[in-house]
Amino acid sequence: MADKPFLTDIKTLRERARRHIERGAVTEGYTADRETVIKLLNEALATEIVCVLRYKRHYFMATGINAESVAAEFLQHANEEQGHADQIAGRIVQLGGEPNFNPEGLLSRSHAEYIEGETLTDMIREDLVAERIAIDSYREMIAYLSNDDPTSRRMMEEILAVEEEHADDLVSLLEKMA
Ligand SMILES: [Fe+2]
Ligand SMILES: [Fe+2]
Repeated sequence: MADKPFLTDIKTLRERARRHIERGAVTEGYTADRETVIKLLNEALATEIVCVLRYKRHYFMATGINAESVAAEFLQHANEEQGHADQIAGRIVQLGGEPNFNPEGLLSRSHAEYIEGETLTDMIREDLVAERIAIDSYREMIAYLSNDDPTSRRMMEEILAVEEEHADDLVSLLEKMA
């Protein structure tokens, strides 16, 4: 462990940390394009908010013989998407950005769509499509973040895993409905 030339020496690390302390978590070693990361995270935030709204609508509108168990699933997903939105907003602030909660333009910033659906099956199908959109866009975001912003990447990886669970839950519900 004596010499690891690829690591920054302690003196430089200490000096660097003292410069621009007002930037908090964003240090000189942060190699990602901060503006782009904040923009991408705001798109993910919009996606999560649209998903909360769609799941809430579906939760309150679920009717029919299977409604109770499906509605419970919708509500659980809505709450988890809300948790994701909060995590993402917190990270945006850590990076020195501002989370965009403006309802104006929300749907165009979001990757996923807001489709109400008529029947319970329609609702589940639309939620599944939205999850699959989020899965693909988050996977791309993770690849982009790579080693330049491991904290944002890890957060998005955890969120991605939950979206995959959601998609899996919805497929199971669709199979039960058929
Ligand atoms: Fe989510
Ligand atoms: Fe989800």
